[in-house]
Amino acid sequence: DPIQPPDMKVCGVPDVGGVPLDVNCCPPVSDAIKDYVLPPVGTLRVRPAAHSLHRHHHGYLAKYEEAVRRMRALDKSDPDDPRGFTQQANVHCAYCNNAYDQTGTSIPLSIHFSWLFFPWHRWYLYFYERILGKLIQDPTFALPFWNWDNPRGMHLPSIFDNEKSPLYNTNRNPLHRPPAVVDLQYTNDKPEPTDDERLVRSNLATMYNEMMRVRKPEDFMGQSYLAGDEVPPPAKAGTVERGSHTSIHRWVGDPSNPYHEDLGNFYSAGRDPAFYSHHSNVDRMWTIWRGLKTRVPKAINDPDYLNAAFLFYDENKELVRVRAGDALDNRKMGYEYEDVDVPWLYFRP
Ligand code: C2O
Repeated sequence: DPIQPPDMKVCGVPDVGGVPLDVNCCPPVSDAIKDYVLPPVGTLRVRPAAHSLHRHHHGYLAKYEEAVRRMRALDKSDPDDPRGFTQQANVHCAYCNNAYDQTGTSIPLSIHFSWLFFPWHRWYLYFYERILGKLIQDPTFALPFWNWDNPRGMHLPSIFDNEKSPLYNTNRNPLHRPPAVVDLQYTNDKPEPTDDERLVRSNLATMYNEMMRVRKPEDFMGQSYLAGDEVPPPAKAGTVERGSHTSIHRWVGDPSNPYHEDLGNFYSAGRDPAFYSHHSNVDRMWTIWRGLKTRVPKAINDPDYLNAAFLFYDENKELVRVRAGDALDNRKMGYEYEDVDVPWLYFRP
């Protein structure tokens, strides 16, 4: 059977590998749960590349900053508003650090390292984006994506590195401020690479491997995760989740913090505004992969995948139930990505 949404009233202490964390990331509870129906799509929201904002999108950055400022302000004015910045970060903590159990069991619910990774994060960003848009009364607002698969985007986007901006976050590795080049095979225990050109080539090769060297849909999407299954181990993740995605988390997080907060652990990752642009690019990789003309089938038609369901608060503070199967096509969800070059396509190692 498919994974069912958690019972939000049964929400406990989150942990990291069984070690309890001293945080409470349980959301406000509500008894009114609606089945979410995708609203009719008018104008598509177009998610821009974060590194190109200053050239192509006048006024966009100011709007984005204002939206995040208002979201942060909700933390103080109404800490129980599920649309607040901390509440939104806590969504990731609750679903990813074992605060919930699978309904009616004592088996923790965890949405990483399986085929739920892409659809769950797509829904998470979907509501995050709509909340930001609502806070500035702009129904066309779209999150920027961190284009780390393109040499032009292979550094932390500068919009996140301005200390005066609400997009700034102190919990990052100080060695990796722009223009440091990202390492899509980053681990915390190897020496910092010194040859930038080589690093760029190795990043492109990594992307080629993760996107093109895939034989079955599960290689890319992640392995199955069904009701009653134990928490999936990292080995069950798809290529992008396990590779470039995790590398960026580790590369940005501050290694001098206990769990490399913020981006270096699930419980704290959503506290860094850069998280949502990172995941916007992860989401874009799913869109690009589905559009590739390679032989591997792109769809998983198993009803236990399509009917997996989650709960989120929407931009109107309503608790809604969503299905994985309704998140397969980003255009039906009302957004698309700015068209940029995809150089790794021709970078067969
Ligand atoms: Cu839910 Cu990048 O993690």
